[in-house]
Amino acid sequence: MTTKKIYVYPVWVRLWHVLNAICFILLILTGMSLHFTTAEGNFIRFDISVAIHNVAAIIITFNYGYFVMGNIVSSNGKHYKNWRKNLATNLWRQGRFYAFGIFKKEPHPFPVSEDNKFNPLQKISYVIVMYLGMPLLIISGLGLLFPETIAYTVFGVSGLLLTDMLHITMGFVLSLFLLIHIYTCTLGEKPLSLFKGMINGYHDAHD
Ligand code: HEM
Ligand code: HEM
Repeated sequence: MTTKKIYVYPVWVRLWHVLNAICFILLILTGMSLHFTTAEGNFIRFDISVAIHNVAAIIITFNYGYFVMGNIVSSNGKHYKNWRKNLATNLWRQGRFYAFGIFKKEPHPFPVSEDNKFNPLQKISYVIVMYLGMPLLIISGLGLLFPETIAYTVFGVSGLLLTDMLHITMGFVLSLFLLIHIYTCTLGEKPLSLFKGMINGYHDAHD
């Protein structure tokens, strides 16, 4: 069996990813603390939570812009395209692999290559998270940061309340994504293979 190293995570992607992950965890912790305010106080002091949440929010917003620009100007963007092609069949093959094939040590149905580094499940979830989930989270968060920009009422309901509800829902959905994301990242060749790849940039392919 020969091992080939395929370079799939360029430096700029790794820098974006680590900063995104750090800010994201800070936002989850402080967001939860702000949300579960009780008469006894918060598990992180209220003013500290607000300060950290606001700073991490601004950093993750600029970092998001850097990710979108990076995918426009570099070849990494190709991995986020053509996600609709044979979607149902591809998802079925990948889902079947995770349900049965992986336990019978079958080969991965969509091996990593320079042209195609994501399997169909990764691809669709990354496209939805990065091009739908993150924009909704950031736009609703910016609305809360600059409440003067939000409509006062929408069909008689407070615009601030609607924005807050959207923000909390997206925060919850993306926090769920993070849990599933970390779990699926353990499903590489060995449990730590994909994490190592995100650190050194290379995926180890065997044939
Ligand atoms: C993983 C990411 C995030 C999570 C889980 C999250 C979660 C939350 C939660 C639960 C609250 C409390 C709302 C309430 O209970 O009424 C909140 C408040 C807030 N969020 Fe986020 N949020 C995230 C990202 C962001 C981003 C990207 C922005 C801005 C661009 C942002 C801006 C705000 C603002 C301005 C508030 C009001 C409190 C404050 O000024 O700190 N959040 N967030
Ligand atoms: C502690 C937190 C996190 C860990 C340990 C982690 C781990 C990883 C690993 C190992 C990979 C490479 C495997 C793969 O290609 O799927 C990866 C890629 C990726 N992760 Fe995460 N991740 C974390 C947080 C996040 C968050 C918060 C987001 C988005 C909101 C995210 C979005 C992505 C995306 C889009 C890729 C593919 C990047 C590319 O190659 O273009 N990750 N992550």
